[in-house]
Amino acid sequence: MSGIAASQGAPFARLLSIASSVPSRVVDNAEMCTYIDSSDEWIQQRTGIAERRWVGEGETVETMALASGRTALERAGIDASELGAVIVSTVTYFHQTPSLAAKLAFQLGTDGAAAFDISAACAGFCYGLAQAESLVRSGAATYVLVIGVEELSRFTDIHDRSTAFLFSDGAGAAVVGPSEVNGMGPVVWGSDGGQYQAITQTAGWSEALADHVTPYIQMDGRAVFKWASGFISEATKQVLDAAGLTPEDLDVFIPHQANNRITDAMLRHLKLPEHVVVARTIKQFGNNSAASVPMAMDQLLTSGEAKSGQTALLIGFGAGLVYAGQVVTLP
Ligand code: UT7
Repeated sequence: MSGIAASQGAPFARLLSIASSVPSRVVDNAEMCTYIDSSDEWIQQRTGIAERRWVGEGETVETMALASGRTALERAGIDASELGAVIVSTVTYFHQTPSLAAKLAFQLGTDGAAAFDISAACAGFCYGLAQAESLVRSGAATYVLVIGVEELSRFTDIHDRSTAFLFSDGAGAAVVGPSEVNGMGPVVWGSDGGQYQAITQTAGWSEALADHVTPYIQMDGRAVFKWASGFISEATKQVLDAAGLTPEDLDVFIPHQANNRITDAMLRHLKLPEHVVVARTIKQFGNNSAASVPMAMDQLLTSGEAKSGQTALLIGFGAGLVYAGQVVTLP
């Protein structure tokens, strides 16, 4: 007996493409201040947000995910039938089951690719990339589509002064595939369930159904801010170390777009050199959770601020609390 055959994958994995889908409705701070007692000045100073995007007529988690997934496939130059897996990260798909990934795998025209959703909030895209890298290198899939998509506007109480101005909608997608040279560093990830209550919902589904209330997202902003500026700044440093790189080796830094002041705290901790391009897409797009890192990457590449082949440090963090980051070569 020769024993059980083991799967064999590619020596390395890399990002082959990135894409995003930006919802049509622009909600500026002036409109936001008709819902909450705030000001454009306060929101810009405390967060960096000037405006955000919410879904418009006919736009949903599904339409945004499909649009970004299609563009990512086109840009990677691969056919949907070549996908071995579709991974969707979202906390705002309205169906607990079946997964959005299974529906998308069919709609995109895959040849019955493996498909599943993950719930890792604002760290979800980086969680998905870590899984995609492992699948490609193990041989479980040759190409993997990773999508981060959210419709947070449906779960945000627009009259809640502590969250309404932050959250937004959107989608980002990437194709991960085999490579002869390494394009993805080791993931640094983890969780702190001791802070489970820091970002949660105002009701579980059982209470929401019984009481006919919307389970809005609620957040202890100060607790999350402290964790993100301290612990996550250090974790981000570990991502760089795990890749065997120094700050001088980096070209681009793409942190989850939660708050420009958190990004500033990270920059102070990391001591990144001047030449490093830092994503600040929160200004136009707010915090769209799982979509924020891929949308920022797409925007930087589309605007020409970042270039294909450059080295970028990614870090996602959010409800759980959970986090994940890796260094990648930009597609
Ligand atoms: O994506 C998941 C991860 N999420 C995050 O990383 C979010 C992390 N947290 C944050 O970004 C910040 O905590 C917030 C932006 C949510 C809040 O900013 P902050 O600087 O922590 O404000 P605060 O809650 O400490 O409040 C400071 C002051 C208070 O007034 P006093 O007591 O100093 O007079 C608040 O009443 O700001 C006041 N305030 C507001 N003023 C105008 C609180 N919310 C508002 C508001 N508009 N919307």
